[in-house]
Amino acid sequence: MNTPRTLEVALGERRYPIWIGAGLLDDAARWRAAIRGRHVLVVSNSTVAPLYLARVEAGLEGFKHAALVLPDGETHKTLAETGNVFAALAQLGASRDATILALGGGVVGDLAGFAAACWMRGIDFVQMPTTLLAMVDSSVGGKTGVNLPEGKNLVGAFHQPRAVVADTATLATLPVREYRAGLAEVVKYGAIADAPFFAWLEAHADALAAREPDALAAAIETSCASKAAIVARDEHEHGERALLNFGHTFGHALETVGGYGTLLHGEAVAIGMVLAATLSARLGLASDADGERLAALLARLGLPTQAPRLDASRQLAAMRLDKKNLGGRLRLILWRGIGRAEIADGVEESAVASVLA
Ligand code: NAD
Ligand code: GLY
Repeated sequence: MNTPRTLEVALGERRYPIWIGAGLLDDAARWRAAIRGRHVLVVSNSTVAPLYLARVEAGLEGFKHAALVLPDGETHKTLAETGNVFAALAQLGASRDATILALGGGVVGDLAGFAAACWMRGIDFVQMPTTLLAMVDSSVGGKTGVNLPEGKNLVGAFHQPRAVVADTATLATLPVREYRAGLAEVVKYGAIADAPFFAWLEAHADALAAREPDALAAAIETSCASKAAIVARDEHEHGERALLNFGHTFGHALETVGGYGTLLHGEAVAIGMVLAATLSARLGLASDADGERLAALLARLGLPTQAPRLDASRQLAAMRLDKKNLGGRLRLILWRGIGRAEIADGVEESAVASVLA
């Protein structure tokens, strides 16, 4: 394979690599260096395992290893499935120096990472993202967790991976709807903090929609660099990192009320960004023209921009459970236009309700 693009997440003394390139799953000599102990559990799902598990297992010769294949889907990002990871670790005899390899999209990565954070109070894990969304967002930065019926990601931990191995060749098998959902998180980086990147995305929207490899690799690298920089400055989301939730408070409410898996996470984020932009325009913070530019780019990338008809009061109830809220007041990421997002405390529920109506 060609030399991968390498980025680094630097968290004070701690740091870990993000490798991005086609064929990385077969480059075991590289990623094995991130494994410190003798025991390895690969966690994947029933869609990804038949495609890629054998290639990962081929690189694990010499380790005591096993694989756990979870059922596919957001509805399985649960405490019950996390319990199955613990059972597999126990059966493997995994000690404190064991490593979990998370092979799959954001669901597998979040759940396996959470299990790694909990097992014996924290063991190593390596992210092997196979969706665009996981490559540009969920595999980087150490947020792990699972859903409850009451809300998305309500149980979790900050637990950084030892490395991120993003084999871009795996994207060839990703269904188009999932691919587009990942593009929503790519647009997010331009929308919140990088106007030149947003303009680059507008110029390369057709190439990205067609999965043109150079444009795609550049978009993944810029997105990861953006996320790595924000996480390095604010690992535990005391401030700036919350900006990465632009569109997510609305989006999580759409996912929770609409039923997990109905809208894909990235689709919900796309609609959520448009709702946040609309609210920001109504509050006089951003122009309608910028909101239209955002919606137009998302639409060109094949993403939905209109919210489905759902009960607004149930969405508001879901938004009240958002992790960003403080003192019972809504905290949202609002928008000053392309490239500029900000944290807004105490947003009036009536203003939010008017956008949901
Ligand atoms: P996903 O993990 O459900 O994967 C999407 C679908 O694609 C699944 O059916 C999966 O089996 C399939 N798939 C994965 N890789 C494939 C491949 N290479 N070929 C064919 N099929 C493949 O969804 P996702 O969009 O990757 O992740 C969404 C999850 O990530 C949500 O739970 C969300 O909350 C979470 N998330 C977490 C963070 C974070 O910082 N931790 C950030 C963003 C999103
Ligand atoms: N996806 C939001 C974050 O990692 O902070």
